[in-house]
Amino acid sequence: MQRLQGMHVVVGVAGSIAAYRACDVVRGLRAQGALVRVAPTKNAQAFVTPLLFEALSGRPCLLTSLDVDQGRIPHVEEAYQAGVVVVCPASADVLAKMAAGFADEAILSLLLSFRGPLIIAPAMETQMWEHPATQTNVATLRARGAVFIGPVVGPLASGRTGQGRLAEVDDVVEAVVAALSPKDFNGKRVLVTAGPTVEDLDPVRSLTNRSSGKMGVMVARELALRGALVDVVHGPLKVPLPNTPGLRGIPVRSAQEMAEAVFAGAADVDIAILAAAVADFTPRTVAPQKIKKSSGPPVVELVPTTDILFTLGQSQRSLVLVGFAAETEDVERRAHDKRERKGCALVIGNDVSAAGSGFDVDTNRVFLARDPLRGASMWLPQLSKEEAAVAIVDELRTLLP
Ligand code: CTP
Repeated sequence: MQRLQGMHVVVGVAGSIAAYRACDVVRGLRAQGALVRVAPTKNAQAFVTPLLFEALSGRPCLLTSLDVDQGRIPHVEEAYQAGVVVVCPASADVLAKMAAGFADEAILSLLLSFRGPLIIAPAMETQMWEHPATQTNVATLRARGAVFIGPVVGPLASGRTGQGRLAEVDDVVEAVVAALSPKDFNGKRVLVTAGPTVEDLDPVRSLTNRSSGKMGVMVARELALRGALVDVVHGPLKVPLPNTPGLRGIPVRSAQEMAEAVFAGAADVDIAILAAAVADFTPRTVAPQKIKKSSGPPVVELVPTTDILFTLGQSQRSLVLVGFAAETEDVERRAHDKRERKGCALVIGNDVSAAGSGFDVDTNRVFLARDPLRGASMWLPQLSKEEAAVAIVDELRTLLP
């Protein structure tokens, strides 16, 4: 799914050793369908040639603020066309110039004509980042609405380790996707559960299930992209949790830990989406030492876990509550049954035994079990989990008061 189809993105590149990583940012943005224009400063051009940026972006670079192309001023035209500008990497020098309103580089002139969202990914030595001059410039730019991605702690060009390293390429691209996404969930607080839980038998063995957590993570990400503040209470995931602005992960292990984290966080949320594959049973006791084979086959007594969804459905009447039903047969009836029994506004059912649906695959075919008073329930076609998340979040929009 290309999230930036046809959208204009300007990438300003400052003179920093991290300038080469802007190449991957350009590639990442183009992979999302963006029309990318790179504006490297003179110092950036000493690190990476414009030829490389032009080849990767497929468009000429903006190289100087003294440029005229057939009577038009490219960096001014681009400022009006761009949906977002990302400065990556931003050096201490360029931060200072942006804060003060300098215009002696194409990217700086462009920024003075630009009125949309600005994303800044700094990269520099820790001492430079922490210097009061730099921090004052950062505060000035933040106060004007700029979004900073990083810098992160890691190895630096000097060989030292500290804060100053350019953020991950994927995180910069994700910030651009977020900046250009509709904000129809602005200010909404959402709690999502995702992934499997793990019920320990002894210090080395456990009971778990095949959930990757991908569907829950994709729904959480979609909500964060669209402006919600999302807490994801998750068991061990098989997919990375994206660094989407507004998304926060709360890692847990057992059903009990998940229940505690959900009940602690659910009080002030507008929406709760319980996509986790929570163990229904857990061992009554966890052996303190590894269970030895010589003791013979162990008899494990299981006791029920707390049904988190059911408990929330009993207690939180003002909440939009959404459950999932991973079934291997009779999906529609079971999804409807769960919606009624657990007090949900919506249950998303799927057949985890069908090809292209459920565990360990990137696609899903889901059934939206709606309250009959709100319209007929329906199957969605087989979609990527990212596309299915968009459809689920669109459905959620209709459930908000
Ligand atoms: N769920 C939960 N807490 C549990 C078990 C399930 O919050 N201890 C949630 C899941 O996150 C999901 C839904 O309940 O949203 C799935 O319920 P499920 O366990 O499939 O349904 P039950 O009717 O409780 O049990 P089953 O179908 O397994 O018999």
